[in-house]
Formats: sequence, C-alpha cells, structure tokens
Amino acid sequence: MNTRSRITSEKLALFESQIKKNKELPGPLMPTLHDAQHIFGYIPISVQKIIAKELNESVAKINGVVTFYSNFSITPKGRRTLGVCLGTACYVRGSQTIMDTLEEELGIKAGETTKDGEITLEATRCIGACGLAPVFSVADKIYGNASITKAKQIIKEIKAETHEIK
Ligand code: FES
Repeated sequence: MNTRSRITSEKLALFESQIKKNKELPGPLMPTLHDAQHIFGYIPISVQKIIAKELNESVAKINGVVTFYSNFSITPKGRRTLGVCLGTACYVRGSQTIMDTLEEELGIKAGETTKDGEITLEATRCIGACGLAPVFSVADKIYGNASITKAKQIIKEIKAETHEIK
C-alpha cells in the first residue's frame, strides 16, 4: 500500500476537527464523508466507525452511503484515476472494449488500484461529453473519440511519468 493513503494521527486529528464543525450543520453526513474522502483518500471501515459513532448513526448506514456513491471509495485510490465512461452513448461506441483493454494492460479490474498505488481504474457514468463518445478521463482531463490505441498510449505516458518522478 502506498504511503499517501495511510491513516496518520495528523490526518485523524484534522478529520475529527472537521466532524466537529460538520455537526453544526443540518445534514452533517455528506460533508463528513466528503471530508473523509478528501483527507484520507478513501473511507475504510475504521473511518466509517468513527463517523457512525460521532454522528450517532449505524455503521451499516454509513457503509451503505459510502458504497452507493462513486465519489467515495473504500479502498485507497491511486495517484492517478483513469475513468472510462460506460454511459449509454460511450457504451454503444465501444467503451467496454476500451475498459477491457485497460484492465488487461494494468492487470486490475474496474474499481481497483495497481499494486504500486499509481493508477486507479474506474467505470464512470455519463460525464457530459457524449458528443465525443467514447470518452475516458485522467484526473480532470477528458479524452474524446477514444480508441484502444489511445488508451494504451495514455497508460504508457502515465507509466513513463511515474518513472520520471521516482
Ligand atoms: S455517455 Fe459517456 S460522456 Fe455521456
């Protein structure tokens, strides 16, 4: 597991102070989950338990919300998130084949992160760029009219960049 996603005591202290502030709000749950995702990079069961206790909710409820929304993750995300849109317009234009290729290239399934903690592969819903279907995204950048070749190229670039950083 990469060090970026560790639950450190500093992060816990910061999170607890955020919870305190959120408790003042009429609906503290969603802001608290967003804070958890932002601070830790994911929301593991240990953090879900803290939230449940602080907000007087059941762990089952917290877990249900965390797993329902794709913005939240229960496993650590990689340094880069590669999203493939599987919305209707992209799907009919072959985004599933792109996803299959990326899964094969990276050796992981959608929703998983590579062992080195660098890349998380995600299936996304429509991201509002249907005119460019099929699309995939890396962080906030959208790649339209995607193809298997383009997807492989991006992976190559990310890997090369990772190599440069290390
Ligand atoms: S369906 Fe993929 S961007 Fe809309």
